Amino acid sequence: MNRVFSGIKPSGEVQLGNYLGALQNWVSMQDESDAVYCVVDLHALTVPHDADELRSSTLSLAQMLMAVGLDPERCILFVQSHVQEHAECAWLMECTAAFGELRRMTQFKDKSTGNEFVSAGLFTYPALQAADILLYDTNQVPVGEDQRQHIELTRDIAIRFNSRFGDTFTVPEAVIPPSGARVMDLQHPDRKMSKSEESPQGTILILDPPEVIEKKIKRAVTDSNDEVFFDVEKKPGVSNLLSILGAATGKTPKEACDGITRYGDLKNATAEAVIELLRPVQEKYYTLADDPAETSRLIAKGAEKAREVASTTLSRARQNIGLLNL
Ligand code: AMP
Ligand code: TRP
Repeated sequence: MNRVFSGIKPSGEVQLGNYLGALQNWVSMQDESDAVYCVVDLHALTVPHDADELRSSTLSLAQMLMAVGLDPERCILFVQSHVQEHAECAWLMECTAAFGELRRMTQFKDKSTGNEFVSAGLFTYPALQAADILLYDTNQVPVGEDQRQHIELTRDIAIRFNSRFGDTFTVPEAVIPPSGARVMDLQHPDRKMSKSEESPQGTILILDPPEVIEKKIKRAVTDSNDEVFFDVEKKPGVSNLLSILGAATGKTPKEACDGITRYGDLKNATAEAVIELLRPVQEKYYTLADDPAETSRLIAKGAEKAREVASTTLSRARQNIGLLNL
């Protein structure tokens, strides 16, 4: 059976880019594959954070993942730090990855530049990500475009480990959607939409009420010639709306242009599609949020199932790399 693995950080609120770039694929892949999904709380420690906030974001992110349609009966859903194999395997990955490879990672450059404190964990972050993926003999990793480089590095690490120490890990590949793989900020269409609080008007949160979503989309930056076509270079703002509309309605951005000639119509159609897409997710989230004990029970069960797979792979890796077993 095809094994799928992916992860999302519990830092800040879930935004539309997470949903269109990754979570939609997670949901559709849980039935065709043997899917494992993870709230990667250890990755959230790489940047300054508040301890209580992290704990509550971790639980509410698990609830959000169930609200978007992940079903703990049909996939394994768990929290990274509950399966200690991740941290241990990360060390093996750090010793297999080259310093120069990690230094080339653009996410590290973006997140470290201009910051007063840069943790060593932020630098070795992709080695932990490789451990996450490789522990589950993963074939496919559904992610947004920004993660392509990390998945490439994971492949290189797996290939290197296998050639040095014998066949140990499955070499995974990234699965990136045709629309929505890189949702841009509505106010700054040259940078990706992100959870960070820097651009609240440019970011649509999954829990934004319908009127807020409508307002943000209506105020989205476009350009001055009222012509609707898809061209990321020449028309970044309009193309972003077309990508969002396409991803929300199961079309490519070019197909999403069909029948739309004016910016006003494009914005109305996009707002309506996003509101309808998120309405059931929001309803389900608020129901689940009422019962944190049930969520905790489900993710504890998920961790047990994940540990079974991860511990088998880690034993193999420990053996092959030369650690003494008693
Ligand atoms: P993160 O919130 O950084 O843990 O990301 C979780 C998933 O959402 C990853 O697969 C990212 O690639 C994806 N993602 C985050 N932001 C965007 C975006 N603006 N457009 C498309 N995918 C995104
Ligand atoms: N680095 C990913 C992000 O920023 C999150 C992540 C951690 C992940 N481990 C993973 C994604 C394993 C896919 C597979 O979005």
